[in-house]
Amino acid sequence: MNKVHVSASTKEYDVTVGAGLNYGECLKEIHSPCKLMIVSDDTVAGLYLDSATQSFTDAGFTVESYVFPHGEQSKNLSVAEKLMEKMVDKGITKTDLLVALGGGVVGDLTGFAASAFLRGMDFVQLPTTLLAAIDSSVGGKTAVDLMNGKNMVGAFHQPIGVFCDIDTFKTLPEETYAEGMAEAIKYGIIYDEPLFTRMERKDISDEDLVKRCVEIKAEVVAKDEFDKGPRHILNFGHTLGHAIETKSGYTIGHGQGVAVGMAAVCGAMLNSGDFKRVLSVLKSYKLPVNTTYDLHELAMLSKADKKRHGDVIRVVLPTKIGEVYLKDVTPDEWEKIITDGFHAMEEN
Ligand code: NAD
Ligand code: GLY
Repeated sequence: MNKVHVSASTKEYDVTVGAGLNYGECLKEIHSPCKLMIVSDDTVAGLYLDSATQSFTDAGFTVESYVFPHGEQSKNLSVAEKLMEKMVDKGITKTDLLVALGGGVVGDLTGFAASAFLRGMDFVQLPTTLLAAIDSSVGGKTAVDLMNGKNMVGAFHQPIGVFCDIDTFKTLPEETYAEGMAEAIKYGIIYDEPLFTRMERKDISDEDLVKRCVEIKAEVVAKDEFDKGPRHILNFGHTLGHAIETKSGYTIGHGQGVAVGMAAVCGAMLNSGDFKRVLSVLKSYKLPVNTTYDLHELAMLSKADKKRHGDVIRVVLPTKIGEVYLKDVTPDEWEKIITDGFHAMEEN
């Protein structure tokens, strides 16, 4: 078992990573028994809600639950409202806890409800996807989507703890696991060439992968919890990725969109050798690297990106594997970058 400490300015907490974690015992170490509302989606609840409930009950917690249909389409204000109405019905108070059991959709929505219910209450993340384990459960970004924009409504609200049982990855469909790998590859490209190389060689265990990615995320969040500057590097691949997700009506997954977004900017910016390595590692996890959507339309959709200010969009561009920088570009310049990236792909 490994613990990674997160020092955000508003909260300090640990991310515990291990196989076969006892959630109830883990939680008891940081919080006295209280009432819990476990929030999950129908797929994850079918697999893990009973065992999680048992574990928390055995540890002395009183457990309620709220389950919604799986998928990004549920990450909206209407589902958050239904959750909060159920919290009122079940007598959840400010000193109780919300528990997010699931992937990034469950975590983002639960965190958002925790930030808003009774003007803020504590919550815990139990990530069950690789993506949630290495990215969304850590760092305190919570949100729901609007029909015309992803993550448009949200708050910064850190969990009091993250307990990641890597055994839950065993039930992940290959495609969903791969979406987590897209975010892991992101950490390699923005921050850590040796990590990238280990992923290329398939020479890293899930536990080590989660630990290293969470260490990187913790370092970045400690520098810039509220996303004023340095944290923007975590958005690598996301400007185009979010546009693709939105354009698809959220039928294309977050990790898939990010994979295409990373491939495009790497094509535009990296030398041919590094670009080939990026394409090869993405393809080795069966991640998409191209899109059939109109690039002009995607560039215009990027104008709705949260990283836009005034007439410019802040994008993350690589100089080599392991190093990126931030640049403010106009939508036209952005369209040229992604167009160049996809042209480079045709040549490689
Ligand atoms: P998800 O939560 O929709 O999970 C993907 C699918 O896997 C779902 O159908 C879910 O039911 C299923 N699933 C989850 N765990 C499972 C398991 N152990 N076994 C079998 N099936 C399982 O999506 P995700 O890919 O985990 O996360 C994507 C979301 O995370 C997006 O909404 C994205 O915006 C958000 N995100 C947030 C942050 C952040 O910092 N807050 C960072 C990255 C991504
Ligand atoms: N996933 C982007 C961030 O946490 O900033």
